[in-house]
Amino acid sequence: MQTLRTTLQQAEARGVAVGHFNISDLIALKAVLEAARDLKVPVIVGLSEGERAFVGTHQAAALVKGLREEHDFPIFLNADHTHSLTSAVEAAKAGFDWVVFDASTLPFEENIRQTKAAVETLKALRPGILVEGEIGDIGSGSEIHDAAPDLRKGLTDPADARRFVKETRVDTLAPAVGNMHGMLKSMVEGNTRKHLDIERIRTIKSSSRIFMTLHGGSGTDDNDIREAIAAGITVVHISTEVRLAWRRGLDSALLKQPSEIVPYKILPQAVETVKEVVAAKLALFDSGRLAHTALP
Ligand code: G3H
Ligand code: ZN
Repeated sequence: MQTLRTTLQQAEARGVAVGHFNISDLIALKAVLEAARDLKVPVIVGLSEGERAFVGTHQAAALVKGLREEHDFPIFLNADHTHSLTSAVEAAKAGFDWVVFDASTLPFEENIRQTKAAVETLKALRPGILVEGEIGDIGSGSEIHDAAPDLRKGLTDPADARRFVKETRVDTLAPAVGNMHGMLKSMVEGNTRKHLDIERIRTIKSSSRIFMTLHGGSGTDDNDIREAIAAGITVVHISTEVRLAWRRGLDSALLKQPSEIVPYKILPQAVETVKEVVAAKLALFDSGRLAHTALP
């Protein structure tokens, strides 16, 4: 079975991105796996500290390992937005492929110090694990926000990115390049889209030469996503759009069958709604090429 590192290397060589989708339950997990298997592209599921508290760190790892082995399929697991070393270590011990160590709200020097220490500790435990560091401000919360935060002052400076990558020895970097977590109401209604600073992505990529993750992918203009991938983004995170589809799918399934009480007769409709969103994103990130014909 290929590793997450080789998957990222292959994606970079092909000029495509790997989709990362946050999950809190089996509905979203099934939807992500089914969409990726239909399209024959590798995929990553992520659980933040809050999502892990609900699903269980070991339980999430066991579920994904089981699916990976049963289907012989490259589905990987990320401990998303991990703020403490204790929970990073717990995820690494449970078998997560990747840890996003997020100290981005701390002063830059402290972010470097804590991220470097996390990389050393996690690699000592599991040398093959990937660790991501984050710099800049991309807001917080994969939710529907009333107003847009002012992210201009928090954009990642390419020189800072270079120093951060060199000193911490992270495997992947999450920069602030116009992206933000969550969606505005106007984005949910389809009236506005997020736009990215493509030149900043290109500059950080050429100076830092590292895999880069675009967080806050929900509601981003499709063309900006294509250009961001061409400029150096290798993974795109989507959460709010998954949550929206989950909520809408569940609401409509419950409305359609008001007397049904059997979960496995109601929930498949929600899986379908989430799957549609995930499939559309995977096709976009793969630039419509979907060339992983060797996958089962
Ligand atoms: O880590 C999670 C993501 O960055 C998701 O952001 O909710 O805007 O899609 P999003
Ligand atoms: Zn994120």
